[in-house]
Amino acid sequence: MQWRVDAGGQTLALATSGGIPEVIYWGAALPASEDLSQLADAARHDLTGGMLDALPALSLSPEPGRAFPGQPGHLLAEADGAPMSPAFVFERAEEAAGRLALVSSADGITLTHHIAAHPTGVFTLQTVLTASRPIRVAWLAAPVLPALQTGDIIDLHGKWTGEFHLIRTRWSPGIRLREARTGRSGHEHPPYLILADDGCTNTRGTALALQYAWSGGHRMVAEELPDGRRQIQFGAPVGAETAPGTHFATAELIAAGSTTGLNGIAAAFQHDLRDRVVQWPDPARPRPVHYNCWEAVYFRHTLPELADIATRAAALGAERFVLDDGWFGRRDDDTTSLGDWTVDRRKWPDGLHPLIRHIRDLGMTFGLWVEPEMVNPDSDLFRAHPDWMLGPRDQITGRGQMVLDLANPMVRDTLFAQVSAILREYPVDYMKWDHNRLLPIVDTAQTHGIYDLLARLRAAHPGVEIESCASGGGRIDAGILAHTHRVWLSDSNDALERLRMQHDAALFLPAAITGSHVGPRHCHTSGRILPMSFRAWVAAQRHMGFEMDLRELTGDEAATLKKVTAWWKTNRDWTMSGTIHRLDAADPAVTAEMQIARDGGRFVLFAGQAETSRQILPRPLRLTGLDPAARYAVALINPEDVPRQSRGPNALKSGSLTLGGQALMTLGLLLPVAWPGTMWVMEGVRL
Ligand code: GLA
Repeated sequence: MQWRVDAGGQTLALATSGGIPEVIYWGAALPASEDLSQLADAARHDLTGGMLDALPALSLSPEPGRAFPGQPGHLLAEADGAPMSPAFVFERAEEAAGRLALVSSADGITLTHHIAAHPTGVFTLQTVLTASRPIRVAWLAAPVLPALQTGDIIDLHGKWTGEFHLIRTRWSPGIRLREARTGRSGHEHPPYLILADDGCTNTRGTALALQYAWSGGHRMVAEELPDGRRQIQFGAPVGAETAPGTHFATAELIAAGSTTGLNGIAAAFQHDLRDRVVQWPDPARPRPVHYNCWEAVYFRHTLPELADIATRAAALGAERFVLDDGWFGRRDDDTTSLGDWTVDRRKWPDGLHPLIRHIRDLGMTFGLWVEPEMVNPDSDLFRAHPDWMLGPRDQITGRGQMVLDLANPMVRDTLFAQVSAILREYPVDYMKWDHNRLLPIVDTAQTHGIYDLLARLRAAHPGVEIESCASGGGRIDAGILAHTHRVWLSDSNDALERLRMQHDAALFLPAAITGSHVGPRHCHTSGRILPMSFRAWVAAQRHMGFEMDLRELTGDEAATLKKVTAWWKTNRDWTMSGTIHRLDAADPAVTAEMQIARDGGRFVLFAGQAETSRQILPRPLRLTGLDPAARYAVALINPEDVPRQSRGPNALKSGSLTLGGQALMTLGLLLPVAWPGTMWVMEGVRL
């Protein structure tokens, strides 16, 4: 028996000869006429010496009891711990438009593999296990997929203020294992993977990619078996299912495929997160320009100071003022008060009303920082409920704080009541929801708990947008994004770092959900000093905001920031709904991307000079994603950033160029000479 599911430019074909079905094809779309039984025959391997007399299937869940020569797709035990290896038999398929469920069972245990095709061009895959008696699950993989037989593994690592580094690994026999055991998707191992074929670049070649929609950590296995077959598994970390049960489900694995380079993957994931995963309170509402006060005042809140800063923020173009950490309990530093979500009357004798009134009079909306999952031992909440925390009493704290046990319904009810009380008292249209420590243990119940709490809050306060922050980008995944609307990519507001980070993150994240702020002149996390023009344009590549003491701005800096912000607001309708395409810059000192409008009618090209080039003159920058037959007018919109040493007749310095798409993509554009820390910004319009 065979089946196929098609989404975007990809086809997934599956077959069974009696056991758990296996994927026989995952790649570029096959014609509707493809004969699936021939395809299944074509996928059958030979046998040779030193092997069993049949090849154990690389099925949607390879079975530990069938001599599979690699990592099994599930590890199960009876409730008393006795290991079991059910020999699954395929039972039935349930098919509906764009949906397929394949059911296999044995010994009272049923495995259902769900596959769905989405109009955004991705598949989602999920494994559900039900049992007739309580059993234990040590490991359960989402539907297991075969990997390309050529090319590299690209996955991610990161750290605080240095998120989204791409790591490229060659395949070799054995396992590349990544396991995020810190209870959140994490800076260290965010749950993303790209299988890039040989020769795949941003703009050319073949790739397949996956992301695991779960915020509680994950395990990824990329394994080349002794026989040469390759498999990919994703699931919760081993041991994350802590209790016996009769129902277990993996999170959804989201799959994309591309024959147009890494940009095809980026386009599918950006589209999918923005238009399917994120549930916008009001999809038509333009993304407002943020002002966030964290790097301006930290915990030092006073009404006159913040009101002054708010006035300046509004004058520069900000539309939402976010009051960060420091407003509640007795929070003068990060050692106390998490858990006590009532306004600190020492700092705010009349509550937040006077500040909010001022902000709203300026035409801005109000956002508020919270970190409800956490508790400081020095808090009224902890003193009242020392048993509400997660993990052992003698655990190591993180930023002086503990985690509340969100599997406990009383904890969730209390947090719901506390946060709801704030949202009822104040007109808050946005919460920056933080999560600033690693968890002491890994337990899927904690992640289900936070999803449940966020879902309840969203149902009760449907107009409120939420940002997922975890010391910057420690919780960025499609699971949390089903409940939130923006991610704080990093605590680094260093525009050079940010340029690289948001470029790499664009393989997965759309501009509309990726926060990016103009930080202080003297960067607080790197010590660098960068020009305002560069800082502002880097923030304008994503969901723009400011995060600094605006009283530090010189007249020139304020004018530049105001100009770039106005540009961003004028163009956000099409940039925020468009697609980011990464360019293959011939010069490694240049990080460049295009944002192309959904209808292809216009684009903006950002070329960031991250360091000094080795060669004397800029190398041509080839564009991508254009119609080769169309003509485009291209203009550099910030020629004022040309440095003293640029003294030649570069065409873009003095006017626009009109060229065909083919010429722009083959020959490319010659930009003016640039100092490091310069962003060239070019607008293109299809004629
Ligand atoms: C985390 C966040 C910061 C800021 C602080 C406040 O570190 O990432 O942006 O909100 O917490 O304590």
